[in-house]
Amino acid sequence: MPVDIALPSSVRIEPGAGGLPRLSINSRQGSAEIYFHGAHLTAWQPASASAPVLWLSRESVFAENKAIRGGVPICFPWFGANVADPKAPAHGFARLRAWTLLDAQEDATGVVSITLGLESPDMFQAQYRVEIGPSLTMQLQIHNPAQTPFTFEEALHTYFAVHDVRNVTVSGLEDTEYLDKVAGFERRIQPHEAIHFTAETDRVYLNTRTACVIHDPGARRTITINKTGSDTTVVWNPWIDKARAMADFGDHEWPEMVCVETCNVGDYARTLVPGESHTMTAIISVS
Ligand code: BG6
Repeated sequence: MPVDIALPSSVRIEPGAGGLPRLSINSRQGSAEIYFHGAHLTAWQPASASAPVLWLSRESVFAENKAIRGGVPICFPWFGANVADPKAPAHGFARLRAWTLLDAQEDATGVVSITLGLESPDMFQAQYRVEIGPSLTMQLQIHNPAQTPFTFEEALHTYFAVHDVRNVTVSGLEDTEYLDKVAGFERRIQPHEAIHFTAETDRVYLNTRTACVIHDPGARRTITINKTGSDTTVVWNPWIDKARAMADFGDHEWPEMVCVETCNVGDYARTLVPGESHTMTAIISVS
């Protein structure tokens, strides 16, 4: 892929899986991989960590017409099925498009920032900035360059690697209202306790801006997800049957992952008037 941007020595463009081009980042702060296809971050490991933080399926397909399974798919401009057009791809088209590299920098401390863009001139301009440092910052900015309002949903659909989801808890969403997608979008309230995983879990937590913490005693680590510009959080694990039903998800891989997704979805879709911008940020740290 020809790119006009000057790259710092810690950033290389190389053929990735399926021959799809990707950015490979290796600085003294850590390593990461970002595919141009979907601006999809598939790996991140800070120098302080002994194992990858993001989960990527060994069965993932890497092809232009498929979304990568794992890492951080960008869901945009809609989330889930497209209500107006059931044939449209799930979770929007942004994760199926080739994004353009706009900038790549490394600062004096070894923190690398990469900016990719995607635009549809009569709808939106999207800029996605990923900062690879002691923590990971993902910032999605949407601008409306057009003459009419633009409404969208968005998610940084982050797959985290865990030792065994059955022993993991996610705190930060206590007492929060959610839509239970496994129960036909039934409205429920999270009890005053962390989330435990004992079955398929697919929940949209509403009107929440709090940080979430993944407690993973098996891996002896906690992962903290701070966020801004996001009013919903999705928590997902497919469990046994749904994992089996997905061709690009190994039948036995479901215990290894949990998604905690920084998002604005459903009733929390955003509308930008002409000329307006919105930024959603997720900051991931590990201890
Ligand atoms: C989650 C949704 O965010 O993504 C689930 O809440 C969905 O319902 C999952 O199954 C995976 O979606 P996809 O399109 O990547 O298979």
